[in-house]
Amino acid sequence: MSLSIVTLDPADDAECGEAAAIMRLASLAETPDMPALSPRRYMARFRNPQLGERRIGFLAREDGVAAGAGLLILPDEQNRDAAMIELHVLPERRRRGIGRALHDHLTGIIRAEDRTTVLANTSESLPGGPVRPGDGSAFAAALGYRRASTAHGQALDLREVPAERLLAGTAPHTGGYSPVVWSGDVPEADVDDIAYLNARLLQDAPTGDIEWEAEKPDPSVIRNYERTYRDKGSTLFHAAMRDDTTGRLVAWTLIEQLDDPSSWGWQQITLVDPAHRGHRLGLAVKIHNHLQVRAKAPELHHVHTWNSAANHHMIAINEALGFRPSGATIDWQTRL
Ligand SMILES: CC(C)(COP(=O)(O)OP(=O)(O)OC[C@H]1O[C@@H](n2cnc3c(N)ncnc32)[C@H](O)[C@@H]1OP(=O)(O)O)[C@@H](O)C(=O)NCCC(=O)NCCS
Repeated sequence: MSLSIVTLDPADDAECGEAAAIMRLASLAETPDMPALSPRRYMARFRNPQLGERRIGFLAREDGVAAGAGLLILPDEQNRDAAMIELHVLPERRRRGIGRALHDHLTGIIRAEDRTTVLANTSESLPGGPVRPGDGSAFAAALGYRRASTAHGQALDLREVPAERLLAGTAPHTGGYSPVVWSGDVPEADVDDIAYLNARLLQDAPTGDIEWEAEKPDPSVIRNYERTYRDKGSTLFHAAMRDDTTGRLVAWTLIEQLDDPSSWGWQQITLVDPAHRGHRLGLAVKIHNHLQVRAKAPELHHVHTWNSAANHHMIAINEALGFRPSGATIDWQTRL
């Protein structure tokens, strides 16, 4: 067998399309319980860096046929000693050394950049959840990575949430705070508050043993997220709680609706500023968002989310909402 690995030109639709198609098929095999996402969404993985990072895509051909894809993410402002990798091999071409060859290629670049920490993630089954084959985890363990953190995936059917009843239960605790909901971009007047809450996520949410520097609050990070979500074809639904005394947003949550299938959404960040915890704002803000989604996008009913296994509080809130276990995402780490 002859194996060649090329660096993707982000402007080359044909090559990026081949790599995106591999990613799509490999992901479907790895997480059969999740929907097949649109090719546009996979293309965006190569083309839409977050602020302060570089992305380099790779395509591996076995005897001239596209068989594997890789993505290298290099943070350039913070965490400059680290790199994230993603590797995908078509299911019918696995266990022939393509994954290892892609890994060697990417780690060669990481070493040449004088970076020492490599992060990757894989999918596994959870007790009571759907079966996932776990090829990625077997591969990561074989290559000497260690488990740094486990995130529990949970899935919810929004049609089954007793939203009004749950909201009534939070009402005695949320006095002094007012809900705000919107879809699309964060209003200019609130973007500093949202940037602050967003930057707190890495500080506040338990993430196991991952070594990762917290972000600094920066409204341009929020504007860049919005641009990348737009490029993927997503629609964003936000809910927040405003502190009536200061006028500031102190709790925030976000659901991303996929373009295809539009019945699916990802429950993204939920964060309550530490000074305002203990008022059931985390539960209240999520329910306000569910009510917004129900009204504006009734076709969206499968919501998927994930939280660090150590984040017992958020997992308990989600269970109260009716979320059920789906699969686990394992973050792996190694030093070069
Ligand atoms: C992970 C993945 C890229 C591996 O690709 P691959 O081409 O099959 O990997 P290789 O053939 O180079 O395997 C290298 C070694 O990893 C281990 N390994 C890989 N898959 C394994 C499996 N399913 N079970 C047990 N060991 C496995 C073996 O030790 C293997 O060496 P061997 O075949 O000589 O025994 C592929 O399974 C995949 O695309 N998974 C979905 C995406 C993913 O989870 N990526 C995670 C890495 S970021």
